[in-house]
Amino acid sequence: MDRSAVEAVKARINIADIIRRYVDLKPVSGRWMGACPFHQETKPSMSVNEDEGFFYCFGCQASGDVIDFYMRINGLEFRDALEQLATEAGVELKGYRQNQQDVERSRRKKLLMEMHDEAQHFFRNCLGHAVGQPARDYLKRRGTSPEIIERFGLGYSPDDWHGLDNFLKGRGRMPEDGVEAGLLSKNQKGNIYDRFRGRLIFPIKNLSGRVIAFGGRIITDGEPKYLNSSDSPIYKKGEHLYGLDVARRSMNRTRRALLTEGYMDVLSLHQFGYEDACGVLGTALTTDQVKRLAGLCNRVDLVFDGDGAGRKAALKSSRMILLQGAKCRVVLLPEGKDVDDVLQEHGRDGFEQCLDNARDGLDFCLKTLRDDFSPREIMDWAGSFLSELKDPALAAFFLPRLAGGLGLSEAELRRTFTGDRAPARGRNEPAPAASPAPSAVRKAAPREKESRNDRTYLTFCIKYPEYIPYLEGQEMHSVLSTEWARALWEKLRVMQPGEDALSRLNPEEKSFFIQCRNQLAENPLNGQELQQEWSFICNSIYETRKKAYLRYLRENIRLAQEQGDRALLEQYQRAYQEFLGRNQ
Ligand code: UTP
Ligand code: MN
Repeated sequence: MDRSAVEAVKARINIADIIRRYVDLKPVSGRWMGACPFHQETKPSMSVNEDEGFFYCFGCQASGDVIDFYMRINGLEFRDALEQLATEAGVELKGYRQNQQDVERSRRKKLLMEMHDEAQHFFRNCLGHAVGQPARDYLKRRGTSPEIIERFGLGYSPDDWHGLDNFLKGRGRMPEDGVEAGLLSKNQKGNIYDRFRGRLIFPIKNLSGRVIAFGGRIITDGEPKYLNSSDSPIYKKGEHLYGLDVARRSMNRTRRALLTEGYMDVLSLHQFGYEDACGVLGTALTTDQVKRLAGLCNRVDLVFDGDGAGRKAALKSSRMILLQGAKCRVVLLPEGKDVDDVLQEHGRDGFEQCLDNARDGLDFCLKTLRDDFSPREIMDWAGSFLSELKDPALAAFFLPRLAGGLGLSEAELRRTFTGDRAPARGRNEPAPAASPAPSAVRKAAPREKESRNDRTYLTFCIKYPEYIPYLEGQEMHSVLSTEWARALWEKLRVMQPGEDALSRLNPEEKSFFIQCRNQLAENPLNGQELQQEWSFICNSIYETRKKAYLRYLRENIRLAQEQGDRALLEQYQRAYQEFLGRNQ
């Protein structure tokens, strides 16, 4: 990692300016507060500290610097986030990508994005000109407004084998690159031709608004009805959602996503004023997509056809959303209708009726289970649901609700779930709330106390770095009991005043560091309190070292006894007595 580039980006970019693009920030006693985009909440509990360059959520403990925020909210890798922010900040990342493979990969991606921009330009142009008449007629028949056509950048691919192909050639592009981009196709003879012909074109964009793929609907008779870009280095099916780049702003306000299945459904929803709508793209909902949504809102309203297949899909999707800890509701439409039909036929009022009848996601799951599942299937469903919950707190939340809803005793249900869960748990992880294993708890206790002390010492160092040299003098490293704490202490010890501390730290350390700095900002100690805290730390270090020394002496006494070495034994016993005497 190029620390100087990271520091340069952070020095030039104000974290509050970036966060404000996604969250409303209000000034509260010298800092900024806003609703955390990373968990469900109504009261703003995310604080942004401009001076120190970090954010921290009191609700879900999400924290980090501006790069962390940007990565998380946009679903980006570190490198890509840094690159985008560096571009904004005008920082050159020279020498940053040492890895030749990375350089090449990033060059390819850039090329493919550019070709998508060009293709988008071509398709839009076609829709606007004579050749686009059939598509314009089609949109008119479907009642799509000009504003929506513009907002979603719709286009048309003429019924021509070499329309886009020739256009790209004219811009100096290699046909093979067009194939890799998924814009052109290649047959067995090696001939290259337009993938999208005679289709209404829906550009698919990433969260930064760049076109990364296309969907195309046939507007005459023909198969398939919809054709989508194949996967490419810039587009993976199941990672993106149609219209999310447009819907994001509004989702931030409503805290909800309306999730539907079709391109036209998304367009109609936006046209009728539901601007927090987006769509899955020709696949079942994936965990990646849910995570992305959960980062932007706290509730997903799933819209499905009310037929059997629709209900089955709704069950799967709501299960996935609940597993991620988000809220969900299920909106079932009249059988055989999609949202677009309802809106075009009955307007907003028609759809509002469907929304009024929406069911809570968990209730919907429970009712579907009770109605359609055998007892065996119900137990399997509940067991696997609970065991897939990563967060013990969530498991504790769902256990009684599932038990109640399925007419089971909690104990019975817990057995199914702990049976699945126990082997997956790491050795040092605390037992999940729902099934405290007594042996694990007993073993963990002393270790917990030691690591609590470690945390106390390090918290102090981070809040009051000016004391670090004194703590070094007291050989603080010798009283730290966990590997984690020793590693962090080593980094704190060598840190220079005024240096960007965060860029040295790994994510776990960073989060701890930010919590401590935040505590300091929230609750600064006055002189006397600081004095007390400092004596407490010194005393506690002293006690720890004293205990270690006495343990060392006792161990040697025992060894000397075993070996029958009288002289040595006396020597250690004397040292032991003297030390105790001195410390009375
Ligand atoms: P539908 O067949 O329900 O179409 O497919 P639709 O969205 O209602 O479209 P219109 O109203 O007939 O124009 C739902 C979604 O499934 C994907 C598309 O994303 C589509 O919007 N799909 C469907 C495909 O990817 N390929 C297909 O051949 C059909
Ligand atoms: Mn439709």
